[in-house]
Amino acid sequence: MFINREATSMRDFLCASLREDHVGQRVAVCGWVAKRREHGEHLAFVDVRDHTGIIQAVVEGSVDVRSEFVVRVTGTVTRRPEGTLNDKLATGQVELTDCVVEVLSAAEPPPFQLDDRVEIDEQVRLRYRYLDLRREHMQRNLRLRAVVNAALRRAMDAQGFCEVETPLLWAPTPEGSREFVVPSRLQPGEFYVLPQSPQIAKQLLMVGGFDRYYQIARCMRDEDLRADRQFEFSQLDMEASFADQDDIFAFVSVAVLDAAEAATGIRPGAIPRITWADSLDRYGTDKPDLRFAMVLHDLSDVFAATEVKAFSAPTVKALRLPGGADLSRSRLDELTLFAKSLGAKGLAWFRVTAEGLESPLAKFLDETESAAVAGVDGAQVGDLIFCVADEYEAACRVLGALRVTLGSPPVSEGPHHYVWVTEFPMFEGVDDEGHLQAAHHPFTMPHPDDLDLIETNPLKVRSRAYDLVLNGWELGSGSVRIHRADIQSRIFSALGISDEEAESRFGFLLGAFKYGAPPHAGFAFGIDRLTAIFAGEENIREVIAYPKTQSGADLMTGAPKGVTDKVLRELRIKIVAKGS
Ligand code: AMO
Repeated sequence: MFINREATSMRDFLCASLREDHVGQRVAVCGWVAKRREHGEHLAFVDVRDHTGIIQAVVEGSVDVRSEFVVRVTGTVTRRPEGTLNDKLATGQVELTDCVVEVLSAAEPPPFQLDDRVEIDEQVRLRYRYLDLRREHMQRNLRLRAVVNAALRRAMDAQGFCEVETPLLWAPTPEGSREFVVPSRLQPGEFYVLPQSPQIAKQLLMVGGFDRYYQIARCMRDEDLRADRQFEFSQLDMEASFADQDDIFAFVSVAVLDAAEAATGIRPGAIPRITWADSLDRYGTDKPDLRFAMVLHDLSDVFAATEVKAFSAPTVKALRLPGGADLSRSRLDELTLFAKSLGAKGLAWFRVTAEGLESPLAKFLDETESAAVAGVDGAQVGDLIFCVADEYEAACRVLGALRVTLGSPPVSEGPHHYVWVTEFPMFEGVDDEGHLQAAHHPFTMPHPDDLDLIETNPLKVRSRAYDLVLNGWELGSGSVRIHRADIQSRIFSALGISDEEAESRFGFLLGAFKYGAPPHAGFAFGIDRLTAIFAGEENIREVIAYPKTQSGADLMTGAPKGVTDKVLRELRIKIVAKGS
């Protein structure tokens, strides 16, 4: 069957489709008036715009249209006269002449210019999002997102995954963020929870024999909003039975690389791997940005018995900034403050000059120490060396943050560097009550070599959790799951989750596991983040149709807002005045 992707009963072509090939044809286009220019008393040029672009209509006689009126223009495609060609427009060789203009909707003047080159305050853009969406870059971004979604679906279908929709009205899930709760009308006083992810639902699908599941899942988390975080976001969520980490990496790689190719036209190479421990050691973070080469170096041995107070610490880490010797003193002071804001006691810096190291600390170093600092990472004259002395992880993290501040290109720049980070720790410290905290979630399988450490040295237990990182952004996470009751109960007790609590929070999952749980593993990555990077956007709001502001407001609808007393009565909810 022939499918015409452009024509409807009202139009023949999209605006930007018209070319010299169409010259002589009488056609109808529909769209918004982008601009109107008078040419004498009886001639006007009307630019008609739809989501594909603009076509110029030459209108004779009087026509009552203004900016953003919705029109249908029927005209003859005509080659533009010599000297009036416009090579900035795809349709710049032609125009519509002998036009009949029908106004389909009048429009008030818009509150801001819809021209993409004009910078508009974001609050105003969000208040009138439906107008903002007409702008070229929002059209491009949301359509890019649709391309990404379509490529992901194709890739998962091709790999034998079955799409299953899981409920939005659900019970608490174990991702660890605050949850949005929804009151039940039929059972007043009881609440549903909007899922932070389909984590438990998808594990139950494995028990249900679905074997390979995926979903483009909406997830909701009531957490502080940032450039890469919204309350609502979408994941490509997946889970597979009889599958291990390598299987998951293969499935996800196909999906992500297909999406990258569809979105950017370039297929990235195979995704490399790094362990969590190596990533921390080399890049000072579990989200390494591999677009630039700077890596951390360890000088702990050199300074093990140092006389220099600033360097007497278990770990001394160093970072070379190529060509950094010309950084001004005030910039160095700023960076020192930045390091201190991250918990560093200080930030030592050394300029590498032809005469040796230059720094307030240089005179305190002995010869071996000076030589080691001056030799960091093959340093050359003109480079700058930063050093941080502290506990191991703290020293790594401070220099890791400095590395990003000094080296990271903007999101819109640079190639796309993906990396798998593997073998995350099982636990990430203790909470206020002294209970261990799960680094991923409590259903993550510990590393088989570390099972004996769960009770004796839990912070040393590695897990079978992994992340996918793109240009320094955490794109997604997953793990091999626990499917054995004995290991699950050891993890719950390490986390301080009693049998009763486990039963009340996850009883339905643990119950299901008694009826034959296949070994399974899974993953989920953020589609908002992936699309934002493809689009070169720093903030995921730019790839979301109706995002919330930093304070969680939807400026267009006014949400969140009150409901009527009748609704509150039905739900048996009483609003308590602030402060009481
Ligand atoms: P996790 O909690 O790491 O894992 O989430 C997976 C990915 O979802 C994206 N993401 C977000 N994107 C935008 N706004 C947010 N508030 C937000 N929170 C998370 C990120 C993140 O990497 N159930 C597990 C996955 C699994 O184990 O299979 C999970 O949800 O890109």
